Amino acid sequence: MPNYGVRLIALIVVFLAAAVSARSYFTADSFYRFGHYRADSVAEIAAPKPVHKGPDYCQACHTDRHTEWSAGVHKVVKCEVCHGPAREHPDTTAKLPIPTDTVKLCTLCHEAMPARPAAQPQIQVSQHAGTEQCKTCHNPHSPRIGGPATAKATAAPVASQPLSAKCAACHGADGLGIGNFPALAGQDAEYLIKQLHDYKSGAKQNVMMNTLAKSLSDQDIADLAAYYASLKGKDRQVK
Ligand code: HEC
Ligand code: HEC
Ligand code: HEC
Ligand code: HEC
Ligand code: HEC
Repeated sequence: MPNYGVRLIALIVVFLAAAVSARSYFTADSFYRFGHYRADSVAEIAAPKPVHKGPDYCQACHTDRHTEWSAGVHKVVKCEVCHGPAREHPDTTAKLPIPTDTVKLCTLCHEAMPARPAAQPQIQVSQHAGTEQCKTCHNPHSPRIGGPATAKATAAPVASQPLSAKCAACHGADGLGIGNFPALAGQDAEYLIKQLHDYKSGAKQNVMMNTLAKSLSDQDIADLAAYYASLKGKDRQVK
């Protein structure tokens, strides 16, 4: 009988030798330094700089925007959701994006969708805004119409007629109208009352005014009309 045991032992010895050399060859140098893991990985995981800084970071330099934002309804939407991760800003030359297409940005969260939770305010874009940019009417940092940002801008009239805060974003703090929005100051009170009732009933159609007028009581309408009639118009013909 030949001695098969010698060949078997030789085979095992060769296998063990290969295994031991493979172990020392393939194991990273720092592997057993602290335990059964690669010690260098600890430093590597800690090294990357955070890409997001959080809104507190922005406060020191962009105090105005931060104040506006933190008083408004958008406080739940952190700065970097809209402006992108701050990373090294402002230390590097790479600029943070300023969203120019607000329709694209705002519809990400506000376009009406059946699966969207009802708690999320939603709009039908075509009926609500048409082709207008959302920022024409809403301040991205404090978007509620008549919210804190507009209230601040209209401190004087608000004191005499609190409801006018809702109107100031479009008709101006002085009632003289902003851009293409019509002036109300110095208009005849009866005329204003009729217009507001027509918007409320739907006899006169306008997406913005219909929504707003529905929230006004008859007393509100009378008060607002009297208030705007009492303001001074700008060289305009009073009807
Ligand atoms: C240390 C001060 C500082 C901090 C902190 C800071 N910024 Fe700025 N930011 C600046 C300066 C300075 C500019 C103007 C840079 C320029 O005009 O090149 C700027 C510009 C911007 C702009 C306009 C885009 C541009 O580059 O011109 C945006 C948007 C902006 N910052 C957002 C933010 C946000 C969001 C944060 C918080 C995550 C933040 N910043 C934190 C100083 C700061
Ligand atoms: C819902 C999205 C949104 C959020 C949240 C938001 N921003 Fe903005 N931000 C905008 C848009 C849109 C503009 C451009 C406004 C315009 O064109 O009139 C802007 C403009 C700016 C600018 C002016 C850039 C320039 O040079 O004109 C700064 C600075 C800025 N934001 C900082 C901030 C800071 C700081 C925060 C958090 C406290 C913040 N933003 C939160 C959307 C947002
Ligand atoms: C990342 C998602 C997100 C984006 C982007 C966003 N919003 Fe909002 N927005 C919200 C949430 C969430 C609320 C509700 C906050 C609450 O009620 O606490 C809100 C509230 C509002 C409200 C107040 C609704 C009310 O109850 O009166 C308006 C108006 C609004 N957003 C307009 C805009 C506009 C305009 C833009 C684009 C510049 C925009 N939003 C971008 C998430 C978003
Ligand atoms: C021409 C002015 C105008 C434009 C443009 C506009 N909005 Fe509005 N939006 C309003 C007014 C006014 C209200 C307040 C109505 C109210 O008080 O119920 C409002 C209310 C909202 C609300 C709150 C709705 C709710 O059910 O509470 C959201 C969300 C909103 N707008 C988002 C947007 C978005 C997103 C855009 C851009 C696609 C946009 N708006 C463009 C005037 C405008
Ligand atoms: C989001 C912008 C917006 C807000 C906020 C707003 N309006 Fe208007 N308003 C308009 C637009 C746009 C028109 C013109 C509509 C048209 O052509 O029929 C208008 C028209 C009117 C008119 C008719 C003016 C005329 O000469 O025929 C009256 C009155 C009026 N608004 C009162 C108010 C009052 C009061 C408030 C506050 C409770 C208010 N509006 C808030 C956008 C707005």
